[in-house]
Amino acid sequence: MSKKIICFVNQKGGVGKTTLAFNTAHALQKLGKNVLCLDLDPQANLSMLVNKNYSSDNESLFQLLINSVKELKALHRSLLISEVLHRGVVDLIPSSQDLSGFELTVSAVQFPRPLILKRFLENSGLIDRYDYIIIDCPPTLGLLVVNALCASDGVIIPFKADDFSLQGVKHFYQVLEDIKDMGLGISPEVISHIPNLYDHRRKSENESLDLIKNFISSENKNVSLGFSNRSGILKSVNAKKSVFEFESNEFKPIREEFLSMGKTIEEWANG
Ligand SMILES: Nc1ncnc2c1ncn2[C@@H]1O[C@H](COP(=O)(O)OP(=O)(O)OP(=O)(O)O)[C@@H](O)[C@H]1O
Ligand SMILES: [Mg+2]
Repeated sequence: MSKKIICFVNQKGGVGKTTLAFNTAHALQKLGKNVLCLDLDPQANLSMLVNKNYSSDNESLFQLLINSVKELKALHRSLLISEVLHRGVVDLIPSSQDLSGFELTVSAVQFPRPLILKRFLENSGLIDRYDYIIIDCPPTLGLLVVNALCASDGVIIPFKADDFSLQGVKHFYQVLEDIKDMGLGISPEVISHIPNLYDHRRKSENESLDLIKNFISSENKNVSLGFSNRSGILKSVNAKKSVFEFESNEFKPIREEFLSMGKTIEEWANG
């Protein structure tokens, strides 16, 4: 099996990027895979979920990225990856608030700025050490997210079925086109769109979902079954645990949904 990098993207906030990235990482681990979570969001929500002892004083991805850019020598600080990497059921390279200054910090760099993360992952040897690297993105389509897209083989787009979602999904596809137009041979594949926090009893949500499905099928992409508003998910996130850390029957359906998502990813990766 080839190793894969997958990012969770949506410029809209609160659609479940972090929650789904976290549980998907654990599902892949349950399927016997070696998984690294990479937190690209300055809010550091994924870092807090994966490592209960996470502190904003920890060394983070930001300094590793800065160290990887030769032209930023003045800002380099000696730092081993092992000093940043947290080991656990799934491993983690945490984020920090500094990442919000990434765009500004690299603004004058000549090296292609969208490729900084890609080159770091290749040169650091991290790609060789894991079956999957799961990247959680901030709610923007700025330079950090463009870096995530350029470094990734696959993209998963969680979304909420509301009035603004279609606009967001369209904007995402424009950015994907822009990346293809850069002529670097980079074009991550969209693995799935996942309707999340979905309430099928609401007429407006059904209408929004239909509009999005129509648009997405015109792009020849899949919409997966998705997740409704599940108390199990909320309970597990509040406890900073994956749904696999709860054994009760209440969690069985949601564990199975995430395992099936893991299997979909495996099929995509092997296909
Ligand atoms: N299917 C679900 N059922 C119940 N609660 C959910 C579900 N998905 C996400 N949540 C909750 O919704 C909130 C937002 O989710 P999350 O933080 O994963 O979104 P996000 O897209 O990562 O947000 P941001 O853009 O700010 O990073 C969280 O409190 C999370 O626990
Ligand atoms: Mg998030």
